[in-house]
Amino acid sequence: MKSLIAANWKMNMDIKSSISFINNFKKYIKKIKNKEIVICPSFTLLNKINESTKNTKIKLGAQNMHFEEEGTFTGEISALMLKDVGCEYVILGHSERRQYFNETDDMVNKKIKTAFKNNLKPILCIGETLEQRNNNKTLKIIKNQLINCLKNIDENEIKNIVIAYEPIWAIGTGKNATPQQAEEVHKFIRELLSHIYNNKISSNVRIIYGGSIKESNIKDLMAMKNINGALVGGASLNPKSFACICGFNNST
Ligand code: 13P
Repeated sequence: MKSLIAANWKMNMDIKSSISFINNFKKYIKKIKNKEIVICPSFTLLNKINESTKNTKIKLGAQNMHFEEEGTFTGEISALMLKDVGCEYVILGHSERRQYFNETDDMVNKKIKTAFKNNLKPILCIGETLEQRNNNKTLKIIKNQLINCLKNIDENEIKNIVIAYEPIWAIGTGKNATPQQAEEVHKFIRELLSHIYNNKISSNVRIIYGGSIKESNIKDLMAMKNINGALVGGASLNPKSFACICGFNNST
């Protein structure tokens, strides 16, 4: 299966710096093969980046959206608006959304349904806190999040989901999960998908890892059987670093 490497720029960059990023990044990724590359910038940058990535292998994603399709929701962005501006993907349920904006599994479940209804591919983020890991609750937390977020999601749609395992203690801390720690959870997620759906679906869903990914640790993480890509925060803000991460097994 083709690895998916996605950049989550979070609340960074402006029009000028993002266009300069894209112009440089395009040069650096020329030789990269067999990867799906997605950039998820702020809403205000989507239109410009859509224009500047036309006819390239770079795809576009958003970092969030509302679960309603339209209406009186001041300040919110809909799935239709994201499609309109060229998005193929949308990150949903990122731990920063859960932590700072009180997003619940129930809201994330509604968002996933709306994304599918509008032909957007969700990148569903799940992950445990350090305290939960230290109390041996990791797999329990992952199971609850996955079951709640995927409630009543049809098996015809689920094949287009991407699941991002992002341990909260690894986000922005410089302390990534070891390949073995990540693989244990990815394997568990795949087994759960096979219980909820079936083997065929579970073996085709991409499960990607996020949390302090950098040039120096990408290769070892991607070597694990059940890790099918990466969701990159800090290191995706530099075009050369992100290109090296995307080309972890190519020469760039
Ligand atoms: P960092 O790569 O900065 O740790 O962020 C990970 C992340 O939250 C991606 O969604």
